[in-house]
Amino acid sequence: MFRIFAVSLLIAVTFGSAFAESAAVKRESVKSGAWQMTLPLGLQADAAYIPEDNPMNEGKIELGKLLYFDPRLSKDATISCATCHNPFHGFADPGAFSAGVGRQLGGRNSPTVLNRLFSAEQFWDGRAKDLEAQAHGPLTNPVEMTMGSHDEVVAVVAGIKGYGPHFAKGFGDPKVTMDRIAKAIAAYERTVVTGNSPYDRYQAGDKGALSASAVRGMELFNGRAKCSTCHASFNFTDENYRNIGVGMDAKKPDLGRFDFTKNEADKGAFKTPTLRNVDQTAPYMHDGSEATLMDVVEFYAKGGIPNPQLSSDIKPIKLTYNQKVDLVEFMRALTGDVANAEAPTDLPQ
Ligand code: HEC
Ligand code: HEC
Repeated sequence: MFRIFAVSLLIAVTFGSAFAESAAVKRESVKSGAWQMTLPLGLQADAAYIPEDNPMNEGKIELGKLLYFDPRLSKDATISCATCHNPFHGFADPGAFSAGVGRQLGGRNSPTVLNRLFSAEQFWDGRAKDLEAQAHGPLTNPVEMTMGSHDEVVAVVAGIKGYGPHFAKGFGDPKVTMDRIAKAIAAYERTVVTGNSPYDRYQAGDKGALSASAVRGMELFNGRAKCSTCHASFNFTDENYRNIGVGMDAKKPDLGRFDFTKNEADKGAFKTPTLRNVDQTAPYMHDGSEATLMDVVEFYAKGGIPNPQLSSDIKPIKLTYNQKVDLVEFMRALTGDVANAEAPTDLPQ
């Protein structure tokens, strides 16, 4: 009896390591100059976007991480980037809207900072051309970090002596500029990637990684429910802006991408968000209007919210209760390990 048990255990162990080895072969690496990062299983290196004028290096990434977690970059030294993009909530915020300095609320839900490596444009409406441009926004936003000007941010950081050596390591000399602050934060964000979810392990051949329910959900997602039309490819987004009707029944709807492009067709269009680690980032949608993943599935089953610009890819979907559960189970299987997520133990003094 004991011997049989021992043998089956051995087989299990051998199988496990054979999978781990084949998985290792499939992991891809992103390179930028002499810097290199091995991506978690399931992520594709050729989709990474690193602007030419902001090559990666370890010093810059470390500096960016310190700045990202440093509340002294806000007017009353209480709010950091991590307040609203919190590692404990999938790098998003558990509130529908986020409170900045003085508990003031903005008008949109904080999106996750995860896997930003794979997108050039940022914000729900894509108005920032890259992470570098994005990082300028929150520091002086009157309901976020509330600094009076970027010069004020530079003065605060330059006044913290301990930052000097970090700027020198990242940029060659200790000079503090807004451009460098934004570049360092962007470089750090590009390392906060997530993959190696049960879904990725299933795709790599570990057929036990997904429950039967999640497999049925995956088939619906890619098949009859047509979710993958927009939540496409390995990061579950087409990087496009779509009107699925969220908030369009409000008296004065947020017009999203339209306010940036002024194209009629962009009214009510918002960026298709990644669905990786989506289980951790409730509530959902640009206005935080859906509390749970089940609520989101109900929203799609009804065919979104009708309005003149509703995407032709959004139509009512007939789903039984069990099929809705399957879709949720599939989305929950997209949660994986996050790289470089721990807050720094000490901030420069
Ligand atoms: C008070 C809350 C708050 C703070 C503080 C904050 N953000 Fe945000 N962030 C948001 C909200 C809300 C949005 C969405 C705004 C929009 O799309 O118009 C956003 C959007 C983003 C995005 C775009 C993500 C995407 O998928 O398009 C990134 C990246 C980001 N923030 C990084 C940062 C960084 C870096 C800092 C610190 C310098 C920061 N945020 C500080 C609330 C905050
Ligand atoms: C026509 C393109 C399109 C299709 C089809 C589509 N989505 Fe979406 N999805 C979006 C867009 C755009 C948003 C953000 C909308 C907003 O906030 O206004 C979104 C948001 C979501 C969110 C919220 C994510 C977050 O971080 O807030 C989830 C979950 C989601 N979709 C799942 C699904 C599922 C499941 C299906 C299939 C039943 C589906 N989507 C079909 C475009 C699409």
